[in-house]
Amino acid sequence: MKITSPLASHEKDLQADIFTGAHLLGPTVLVEFSGAFPGREPGTIVVCVKKYLSPSLLLRVETSRRTCQDMKLPVSHLTPGMKLARPIYGLKGQMLLNRGVELTTSYILGLRRHKILAVMIESILGLDEHDTENILEENVRIQAMASIETWVQNNKGQQKLSPVMDSVNSIVDEILSGKIPSGGLAEISTADAYTFAHSIDVCAFSVYMGLNYGYQKKALLKLGIGSILHDLGKTKVSLEILNKPDKLTDQEMDEIKNHPLFGYNMLINNLSDQLCDTSLDIVLGHHERYNGSGYPKGIKGDEIGDMTTICALADVYSAMTTDRVYRRAFPANEAYELIMTCGDLDFKMRLVRLFATCVCPYPVDTLVLLSTGEMGQVTANNRNLPFRPVVTLIESEEQVDLGKELSVVVKRALTDDEAKAALIRYALGNKS
Ligand SMILES: [Fe+2]
Repeated sequence: MKITSPLASHEKDLQADIFTGAHLLGPTVLVEFSGAFPGREPGTIVVCVKKYLSPSLLLRVETSRRTCQDMKLPVSHLTPGMKLARPIYGLKGQMLLNRGVELTTSYILGLRRHKILAVMIESILGLDEHDTENILEENVRIQAMASIETWVQNNKGQQKLSPVMDSVNSIVDEILSGKIPSGGLAEISTADAYTFAHSIDVCAFSVYMGLNYGYQKKALLKLGIGSILHDLGKTKVSLEILNKPDKLTDQEMDEIKNHPLFGYNMLINNLSDQLCDTSLDIVLGHHERYNGSGYPKGIKGDEIGDMTTICALADVYSAMTTDRVYRRAFPANEAYELIMTCGDLDFKMRLVRLFATCVCPYPVDTLVLLSTGEMGQVTANNRNLPFRPVVTLIESEEQVDLGKELSVVVKRALTDDEAKAALIRYALGNKS
């Protein structure tokens, strides 16, 4: 499937029978053509405005049986009229656009200027409240992003670390409050992809894993500080290299590989009196690997501290499950399975097992294909059976607890395109 140009106004008298599906997004709709309409390729997805739909299609869509979920769309696919399902923040932690805001052409251009890659869009059918309970409170995230960015910009060696410490404290308190459920890491991750948000995610992921490891608050703060600052050295690497979509040269790779050392030196030279060795070790060692294949020192085994490995696991998971300029995000289950294969290779096995208890391979809302051929949406997880979630079938709306129905397994998560097509069919009540 490919998404093409918006529907022109002269095409508004379209009849329902030339569509094979439609997905409503605010006053806008993604429409799939069967090919019967002149000038449109079969299977093409066209963005059009709801008012252009024929009454029969509109009726079919609006009387569909239940809600669609909010949807993550690349900024290149946004059209005016779509509504944001989550707020968007700039690099300095400032709110660019709030949840519920209707997008305009200038807003979309602004998002491009701010290099935002993708945003969560409300489905018009998704009128139920987005589940914000499971997400790190937005004010904690904003404060954290703002403080770390300001601190990095102003850090000439004289700055106190206290604003960053305060942010980590808020994140630790948030996680200690127990608001983050067993669904875990996937649910505290941000939808957006940029360095400061990544730092906040890695901090929150690390603290969450640290809590499950058994660390008390004092230790969690050390882990959180090291994790939030883990990529500080990237501020010394050129943006062209960091954002290069093509393969890096050996020289460019060497520069990237120096970022743990850059960060460590920045901190040790200016702030060693405010930081403990554990936090500094995390910054220096977050790319070291259990088998010695990491950098910058190539240390291995127990030479790498457990807190450093916890941050490394959080870093890898967050990076894999976030869109990057050079590739799309991995689905959570693929990232989970890849990390599970790294036990005693890249990471200590005991900590990989800890990671596995903190992350769901199929987070709530994931659309999945079952071994029966049916498609469903994950509605809950069984903590001790991570690959056997509770799934609500799309066709029948029947709930299947794979923790009890042992003859059925999840074959795989649906790709973005498959999920979109499934929701389109679903919205129209079309079972084919
Ligand atoms: Fe890094």
